[in-house]
Amino acid sequence: MKHVLSDFDLSSEELGEVLSLSAEIKGSPEKYLHALEGKTLIMLFELPSLRTRISFEAGMSGLGGHAIFYGVSEGGFSRSETLGDGVAVLSRYSSCIMARVLSQEAMEKMGESATVPVINGMTELYHPCQNMADLLTIQEKKGGLAGLNIAYVGDGGCNTAASTIIGCTSMGMNVTIVCPDDPQYSPSPELLEKVKANKGSVKVDHNSSTGVRDADVIYTDVWVSAGMEEEKQKRMTMFPPYQVNTELVKKAKPDCIVMHCLPAHRGLELTSEVMDSPQSVVMDQAENRMHAQKGLLYWLLKE
Ligand code: CP
Repeated sequence: MKHVLSDFDLSSEELGEVLSLSAEIKGSPEKYLHALEGKTLIMLFELPSLRTRISFEAGMSGLGGHAIFYGVSEGGFSRSETLGDGVAVLSRYSSCIMARVLSQEAMEKMGESATVPVINGMTELYHPCQNMADLLTIQEKKGGLAGLNIAYVGDGGCNTAASTIIGCTSMGMNVTIVCPDDPQYSPSPELLEKVKANKGSVKVDHNSSTGVRDADVIYTDVWVSAGMEEEKQKRMTMFPPYQVNTELVKKAKPDCIVMHCLPAHRGLELTSEVMDSPQSVVMDQAENRMHAQKGLLYWLLKE
């Protein structure tokens, strides 16, 4: 029984296995139509989702299994029972739990109480399933991962940036976090220390022009997420120099691909001209959420 509570729960070998399985299942979906027959995934959400919710449900049904959605705001854990008790009960009804919860602390507690695998569907610190889809996409577009340069442009302190740093360096990629010179929007020193042993490298550059130089991949994400309304003004002042526009993309390698985990705010973190350009792979990336999660579910639940 294995949990994926953060990107650190998968070794580079295990992540490689999940990516290989994802590619195999994507290439021959008909072979896996009954692979998880009789298995049930419970999906818990404390925050809204389009891609994570639907791609997990579609992925589970594509493997012959079943998925149940439960919005935590419907009452469950906010009533009198503890998170641990609730998760222990849900383990009796299911083969696996995927959760998008507000805190990594809650995610870790779920892992302690669950008797089935728990998958992190995003917390404030990590978004591992997004990174698996990102790696699958890069692998498809570039024919490999090790040695490639990825520039993550924007909020270097967010969950997607953290998962990019961990997953991409684990697979031997070189990550440049291109972000404002402010600790709040930069990766934490603890995170940078923890990935030092990984095969790839990570560095921080506050200048967008030098930060994307030699990039094979430019990645960006939303500047102001739900719940950040109080610092919206500060963010809208700090991030415009980091917009991914045609001028910035021209500074990377000529065959650089552009990625965004979506939802995108066209005209803010990236322009429509870039998002709709031949270099953009964002829709393939979004599709790969489902394929990568099928690979992960099969890897966790196969008998
Ligand atoms: N990228 C992502 O996690 O999308 P959702 O918030 O729609 O799930």
